[in-house]
Amino acid sequence: MRAQSKTPLFDTLLNHAKRKVTSFHTPGHKNGNSIDKRLKSFTGRNAYYFDVTVFPEVDSLHDPVGPIKKAQELMAQAYGVSNSFFLVNGSSVGNLAMLLSSCNATDSVILSRNCHKSALSGIILSGIWPIWLQPKIDKNLDIILDSSPDQIEAALKEFPEAKAVFITSPTYNGIATDLVKIAEICHKQGKILLVDEAHGPHLKFHKDLPISAVEAGADLCVQSTHKILSALSQGSVLHFNSELVELARTKKIVSMLQTTSPNYLTLASMDLARKQAVESGEKMFNKIIHWANQGRDKINQLNNFSCFSRNDIKLLGYDLDVTKITINVTKTGLTGYEIEDILAKEYNVQVDCADIFNMIAITGIGTEKKDISQLYKALEEIDVKYHGEQKNWVLDLPSLSTEMVMMPRDIFFSSNTKRVPLKKAVGHISAQTLTPYPPGIPVLIPGERITKEICEYLIDLSEKDIRVSGQETDFLKTIKVVTM
Ligand SMILES: Cc1ncc(COP(=O)(O)O)c(C=O)c1O
Repeated sequence: MRAQSKTPLFDTLLNHAKRKVTSFHTPGHKNGNSIDKRLKSFTGRNAYYFDVTVFPEVDSLHDPVGPIKKAQELMAQAYGVSNSFFLVNGSSVGNLAMLLSSCNATDSVILSRNCHKSALSGIILSGIWPIWLQPKIDKNLDIILDSSPDQIEAALKEFPEAKAVFITSPTYNGIATDLVKIAEICHKQGKILLVDEAHGPHLKFHKDLPISAVEAGADLCVQSTHKILSALSQGSVLHFNSELVELARTKKIVSMLQTTSPNYLTLASMDLARKQAVESGEKMFNKIIHWANQGRDKINQLNNFSCFSRNDIKLLGYDLDVTKITINVTKTGLTGYEIEDILAKEYNVQVDCADIFNMIAITGIGTEKKDISQLYKALEEIDVKYHGEQKNWVLDLPSLSTEMVMMPRDIFFSSNTKRVPLKKAVGHISAQTLTPYPPGIPVLIPGERITKEICEYLIDLSEKDIRVSGQETDFLKTIKVVTM
């Protein structure tokens, strides 16, 4: 563990920054000299001395041989994998890299429709055939669940040609699927397991959290170090631990997808975040888990707000990262969006996201006890002060196991498309991605046959004037389809 107390990249950059070297390299602000005074007076000058570019002393992200190499090796050691790659465009670029590294064009991948949009981008760019699984919905808790081992087993039976399985675990709500079983199922059949663990860089560091993806046996996984640990925004990692995927290709793909001007402050923060998680993660998450559980219990005593517990989720066959607090608001008669707005404007509290039914309060390694108290106290007041009319909204999805007729990439890059009235779209092949919110899951993607059920679902949304992400026009009256 002594090696883990080292921070080679941070130390190199700090050394460089302290020397106040005259800069004849990018970026143009020259050690902060020309940064706007209002920004500089707020942040101070020192941070800008970290904002350097590639030169031998600070190493290159694309061909690391010095401190970046050492920092990545320490990251790999901390997570128990063979290789880790620093990412400076979040897990979004990590999802692209996982798909492009593990599959060739025309390979197929099994994945649940609730995957992050970057996974869909990866499918379009790589020319993969997606095999979509219908996400499960829990209508009591108003949440969506990623694939269970049973779903994966059945899908692999039906589509034995699939090269890989892509899982999102934990989800935004912190719900983790049984990755140990899924890894077993995949590896028994020689399939690659890719895990989007954007929300789980901390799982490895506390025994009372769900098992982490690499410990469960994932081949590749991505983590947003910035989401829960203390890396700066965009700082993420791709972990590689596979005999089924080629390491050299993964290296090349990661390099192809990343900027040649990475932010070194972000890179340095990854080095420090790893040291902190290894040395103090257990202690820090001990407290956070305790406070989050206390907060959840207190919120559950309010009249109109409720939070599911780890036990509730275990009853569904899943596990819960208890550091995430999902607050159901339906009994208030207001939407999650409305409560989010009240919290922000009246109580100076900002949650991570909201939908009609829930808000998600994400704690992180920097959360303090008083933060959870502030959230609780605000909800306690709102519980008394604000009530709307009860609505009968139901979280629902049409059947999404539709027929993929053409490859998403072929449609995305084709101009053989036209718009047809929504009412006449049944049977056509979609050339659009359409994602209603909630639940934020695409009901159509390029290459998919438009079913009567999906068409009726979209017509209903259009009649209610609900905007659908990707609709491209002011009103959802037409849809772009493929011309034969
Ligand atoms: C499940 C999931 N995967 C990937 C991402 C993308 O992560 P990043 O913001 O680090 O690019 C997100 C972002 O919220 C996410 O929720």
